[in-house]
Amino acid sequence: MKDKIEALRAKFTKDLSSVKDLSALEELRLSFMSKKGAIQDLMKELGAIPNEQKKEAGQLINSFKQEVNERFENKKKELDELALKFLMDQTESYDESMPTKDPCGSYHPITLIQRELEDIFESMGFDVEDYNEIVDDYHCFEALNIPKFHPARDMQDTYYLSTPNQLLKSHTSAAQNHIMKKYGDALKNEGRPIRAVFPGRCFRNEAIDACHENTFFQMEGVMIDKDISISNLIYFMKTMLSEVFERDVTVRLRPGFFPFVEPGFELDIKCLICGGDGCPSCKNSGWLELCPCGMIHPNVLLHGGINTKEDPFKYTGFAFGLGLTRLAMMKYGVGDIRVFNDGDLSALSQFVSR
Ligand code: PHE
Repeated sequence: MKDKIEALRAKFTKDLSSVKDLSALEELRLSFMSKKGAIQDLMKELGAIPNEQKKEAGQLINSFKQEVNERFENKKKELDELALKFLMDQTESYDESMPTKDPCGSYHPITLIQRELEDIFESMGFDVEDYNEIVDDYHCFEALNIPKFHPARDMQDTYYLSTPNQLLKSHTSAAQNHIMKKYGDALKNEGRPIRAVFPGRCFRNEAIDACHENTFFQMEGVMIDKDISISNLIYFMKTMLSEVFERDVTVRLRPGFFPFVEPGFELDIKCLICGGDGCPSCKNSGWLELCPCGMIHPNVLLHGGINTKEDPFKYTGFAFGLGLTRLAMMKYGVGDIRVFNDGDLSALSQFVSR
């Protein structure tokens, strides 16, 4: 047994000295330590040894096994250190505090378009507001004139939390009530019109494809004052969209139903690609559907504390819900909505940062 161990030790020493990397080391370790390895073979032979020599032979095998283990660990450490040293040599000049030579990132296209719109609206006297992603049933539906069990809820199936009455907002309109309460006093006491936009992430239970996502962005806008009419709505939308697309756009309104506006519209712009003649991107209609909007329903103004039941038309206002994701697709020519949430940097970093 002694001789056999001696021979194995010599082999191990020789093999170990020629090991150059971790995988060769592992291979060597298995050839000694695994169930089919050399040490296990020695253990098997132990059975054939006369009883009085068994104890000593067993001890020899055990201490050899320990030795192999230790030398294996030492070699592994040595290889790890070598690998680290190699890496440090390669990146000798790396300094964590140095800015990189290449641009170190870019804004998400939705962020770009959101900031652009915020600037445009701010220049028109609008406040930019933030709102929660988790909202309650009242703000998302009830306060917007969508009572429980109303079929209009079917269009906005979303994700409900296990906490009672909490859900992920299905549209930015969920913030309207909050905005009215925040700025209502200034309107009524100081005559300061409410002009606010609120961008935000929205969620809906959608089957995902190139045009539908369960997570997308909108930008809501409201303007409330005395004598606000559809003309104000058209003027603001036209001015804003001409800025976004950097050319004069032609808009038109079609009737559209949303329980929180009356009358409600779909706002279209004349196709920017064919100028209205008809092309594949406007499905040959000459128009692109861009943004639902309308005059805020009296019940919504009532819920927001703007008007009273006694004087339900004292103040009027318009609201619109711009699809930021849709706008980004149109402005940047992105054909598949999934690009925005995929996190694929090679696609997302192509947009110019500011
Ligand atoms: N919140 C509506 C939607 O997401 C859009 C909308 C906003 C319609 C404001 C009218 C006025 O479908």
